Amino acid sequence: MNNLLEGKQGIIFGVANERSYGWHIARALIDHGARCAFGVFPGEKMEARARLAIEALELREEWIHPCDCSKPGSLQATFEAYRRDHERLDFVIHSIAFADKEYLRPGNFIDTPRESFLTAMDVSVFSLVSMARHAREQMKAGGGGSILAMTYLGAQRAVPGYNAMGVAKAALESSVRYLAQDLGPDKIRVNSISGGPLRTLASAAIKGFRNMLNHDARRAPLQRNVEGGEVGGAAVYLVSDLSTAVTGETHFVDCGANFVGF
Ligand SMILES: NC(=O)c1ccc[n+]([C@@H]2O[C@H](COP(=O)([O-])OP(=O)(O)OC[C@H]3O[C@@H](n4cnc5c(N)ncnc54)[C@H](O)[C@@H]3O)[C@@H](O)[C@H]2O)c1
Repeated sequence: MNNLLEGKQGIIFGVANERSYGWHIARALIDHGARCAFGVFPGEKMEARARLAIEALELREEWIHPCDCSKPGSLQATFEAYRRDHERLDFVIHSIAFADKEYLRPGNFIDTPRESFLTAMDVSVFSLVSMARHAREQMKAGGGGSILAMTYLGAQRAVPGYNAMGVAKAALESSVRYLAQDLGPDKIRVNSISGGPLRTLASAAIKGFRNMLNHDARRAPLQRNVEGGEVGGAAVYLVSDLSTAVTGETHFVDCGANFVGF
């Protein structure tokens, strides 16, 4: 069971610290034999914290490149550097999102300014399209690959306080399907995991996040919140050859909270 990803290598975007979904995904992929490189948000404090978390993964060799998806040329430079140092690109993990904290409060979606709305769409959605474009040729040359993004139920239901992030996640899930269609002929699969609420830096920005946690723990059929490692496990499946016929999917890993009526 431990070598599902032996011989596969790829890049993960979205490790901020050891709580990040991106970190849990990295942990699981590495445990199953994958080699992981990392694109991390630049800046002294953020980068140092991400580096510490990556060190905790105890890799034989670390490959880290600064990348701010909102800056023109940053993703391109990261993928060029990755290609120089790695023969294969079997997977890309998109575990990043950003929305202006000020407009992540119950009742104030309607006040979201254009600038904040567009930033959420740029960092949280367009970055996936751009990553897929930069990854395509190297993945195709290696016989295909798997691209995986992180989403949340707020894409499909109005979750108080999730606001512009929810609209961005709806666009992300749709982008997953359109990318899956474009890239299918190259044997590149594109999927998303809709993870349950998890305490992270990003989720701390959502006013009322504790209500999301409590609501799921009460109402989910499994009567608890998801753990990061459980999303990691699903990522292993979606990156591995066990899922070669799965593409364009939103796969819920949320203890079943998504389908409960009331
Ligand atoms: N935590 C949750 O409850 C939850 C639930 C479902 C889905 N998600 C999704 O999981 C993903 C990871 O979030 P997380 O909760 O682990 O939080 P996190 O704060 O640990 O990770 C978010 C990451 O996005 C990165 N990022 C933000 N702006 C960026 C930019 N311009 N360029 C490059 N990177 C940038 C940050 O550096 C960070 O590494 C996000 O897509 C989030 O929406 C989170």
